[in-house]
Amino acid sequence: MILITILLISSVSSIDVEVSVQCTTCVLVNKTCYNATYLLDLDAPFRNNIVITKIGILRSENVLFYSFEPRIEDLEYYKIGFVNLDAPEKTGVINSPNYVMNFGSFDIDQDRSLVYLGGNDGIFELDTGSSQLLPYSSRGDPIESIFYKNNVYFVRYNDRGIVVKKGDYFKTILEYVPVNKFVIHKTDIIVFMNNFGLFVGRDKTVYRVSKNPFFRGLTVDLDGEVYAWWIDGIYKVIVKWNLVDSKVVKIAHLPSIGAMAFDNINNLLFTSNKALYRLVETTYNCTLN
Ligand SMILES: *[C@@H]1O[C@H](CO)[C@@H](O)[C@H](O)[C@H]1NC(C)=O
Ligand SMILES: *[C@@H]1O[C@H](CO)[C@@H](O)[C@H](O)[C@H]1NC(C)=O
Ligand SMILES: *[C@@H]1O[C@H](CO)[C@@H](O)[C@H](O)[C@H]1NC(C)=O
Repeated sequence: MILITILLISSVSSIDVEVSVQCTTCVLVNKTCYNATYLLDLDAPFRNNIVITKIGILRSENVLFYSFEPRIEDLEYYKIGFVNLDAPEKTGVINSPNYVMNFGSFDIDQDRSLVYLGGNDGIFELDTGSSQLLPYSSRGDPIESIFYKNNVYFVRYNDRGIVVKKGDYFKTILEYVPVNKFVIHKTDIIVFMNNFGLFVGRDKTVYRVSKNPFFRGLTVDLDGEVYAWWIDGIYKVIVKWNLVDSKVVKIAHLPSIGAMAFDNINNLLFTSNKALYRLVETTYNCTLN
């Protein structure tokens, strides 16, 4: 009789222990368990409803740049802020006194530590060494998105094709194809979104990998692989040279991602509201959640 009572008590307490070690912040990403570790709150004059559409890292300095929607009374509807991830007190917003820039897109030339910023009046170049902001290209044109890979690639708002600036010379690729956001895979195949879905494209050929036009953004990891995110989580775009073999697969259920990018050791960073998180691999078994 005494023995039975003891067994019952110990089995109850072992259930308690399992519950208390549950990892509520852990998330399974394609079979590997990661802990979403809080890093910091981004500090910018946000709207009540916080919108951060893009993040990216200046790798030499470990500075995170981000596009956000500022307060409603601000003359601009997009701005770009930054924070040094090693020294978060070094933070700020790129301001252009007396001038409405609406910088909503950017990308970084990592070798030369230059940030290209796109707004309603073309592309500007920020030299992060001297903090100088200078006009770079296409004054007067509204810029929808920018990508840097050896050259500046950009899309004008409501226009077709992707423009590549090579010195003083411009070339348009995927001519006649509407493009909103885009990135370039390690094989130089373009992954892009428009109102009809998510596509891969090369030369004059495009292939639709998803009819979902609501992916929120695209990013590339340090290996040149492409990821997209949506309200329900993270997707990997499997890009194949034979475009019709390409596909998009969901790899993690993680609601409320604002924007995402990869840090200097290829950990995934993401924002949720104004908080920035890093996915850190853990030995915890996610399927116990
Ligand atoms: C998921 O992981 C498996 C095993 O590591 C790998 O073979 C597969 O390619 C991965 N899938 C994606 C979409 O990354
Ligand atoms: C997850 O990270 C938090 C800190 O953000 C830490 O307190 C917790 O112990 C971690 N959990 C696991 C299972 O690694
Ligand atoms: C995680 O837990 C599940 C359910 O208990 C189990 O089937 C699986 O083998 C475990 N995985 C690892 C890697 O321990």
